[in-house]
Amino acid sequence: MKLWGGRFETGPSEIFERFSGSLAFDRRLMGADIRGSQAFARALEQAGILTAGERALIIEALDQIQEEAAEPEFFANATDEDVHTLVIRKLKERAGAVADKIHTGRSRNEQVSLDLRLWLRAECDRVRALLAGAMQALLDLAARYPDAVIPGYTHTRRAQAVLWPHYLLAYFEMFARDAERFAEARRRVNAMPLGSGALAGSGFPFDRRAMARDLGFDTLTANSMDVSADRDFALDFLYAASTTMLHLSRLAEDWILYSSEEFGWLELGDEVTSGSSLMPQKKNPDSLELIRGKSGRVLGCLHSLMVTMKGLPLTYNRDMQEDKEPLFDAAHQMAGSLEMARAVVASARLNPARPLAAAQESWVIATDLAEALARAGTPFHQAHQLVGRLVLESVRSGKKPADWTAAELQRFAPEFTPDMARLLDPREGMRSREILGGTGPQAVARALEEARGRLARMSV
Ligand code: ARG
Repeated sequence: MKLWGGRFETGPSEIFERFSGSLAFDRRLMGADIRGSQAFARALEQAGILTAGERALIIEALDQIQEEAAEPEFFANATDEDVHTLVIRKLKERAGAVADKIHTGRSRNEQVSLDLRLWLRAECDRVRALLAGAMQALLDLAARYPDAVIPGYTHTRRAQAVLWPHYLLAYFEMFARDAERFAEARRRVNAMPLGSGALAGSGFPFDRRAMARDLGFDTLTANSMDVSADRDFALDFLYAASTTMLHLSRLAEDWILYSSEEFGWLELGDEVTSGSSLMPQKKNPDSLELIRGKSGRVLGCLHSLMVTMKGLPLTYNRDMQEDKEPLFDAAHQMAGSLEMARAVVASARLNPARPLAAAQESWVIATDLAEALARAGTPFHQAHQLVGRLVLESVRSGKKPADWTAAELQRFAPEFTPDMARLLDPREGMRSREILGGTGPQAVARALEEARGRLARMSV
């Protein structure tokens, strides 16, 4: 069955049907398509196109089709052009001639927009719940090691000491922004397109507000041509998915390093790692590597749809059918990655002695010393030079910070006062960073408390 054909003398070739069909992937929109068609049947009744009996018959038949679709053979033999055509064919089989009226004043162009919006709206909710799960896992891990100290890095070089929970909260912030982006994407998705027709607006006086209420939409789309041409809402979702994956990928990269033998900070659970077929000793972080790998794939999905859209003349073009596979793939890979990340975080054990030793062996306290000198009156640039010379001298003589005594420091430069020697321990300098957003122990305790509250208030 076709939703068109009168104008043609012969049907499409087998090659063209195979090439252009989208049922293999847009079948995911089945639930949305049925829900949209049921609402449209109610609108047709209101507009006087369907009787109450016809409307009831159509809605009942669509319910049955939805049930039937749960059976594995439902899609197996279907050769329809797309999911919309499949639903109409099934409707005809069940409800008979009245099915011929369901497309009155409705185009597949607005239907595909509607279905995608309904599907994406649910996906935005799902991913926000998954983000909340990952954020909770980060807070739980922070609570297990409240005082652990690690060297923070810039340029992959040890930079300044921070608390382990402070580091984890950095990722909490990233995921909180991602959740906001999905809330924003949902707001854009949540506009009702039906009534737009193919591009010019429907020729029937549907009550668009009633349709929006029926389908739970907040607003109406404002321009029928825009509806047929627009996939911005899908791009918004893909951009939010891309930043989420980018954040997951950076976490994965950190932890692949931190769980390596060279770092030895983290032990990942057996349940999220795998072995080697040849090397018996291996415990590989495949879960994190796959998250990192899939992030490239999701970024590609955003790029793919952007490039698909960029040269299209208004309004609908069949190119736009290519929106679905990247969208479905990105949503699927992101959901899997978030679930996986949550499990990895829940499985992780920190060995606090290793990162503390890494901080103590290095000169992450250099800034603390320079700032202490500045607080005591040495202009910062001079303090910087002075500590720089101290580090150079130490590197030459193989001295670690803890090898210096207060007296030696004072002999090195009279600007060092005896109380500054306590700053040779990386745990000390942090106490001067109680500024809002800093790694001071009290600031971090407050930030953790605040993060717990924000997560609890995050409506998912
Ligand atoms: N399968 C099509 C899509 O996903 C549905 C819209 C078809 N519209 C058309 N004018 N051919 O884009």
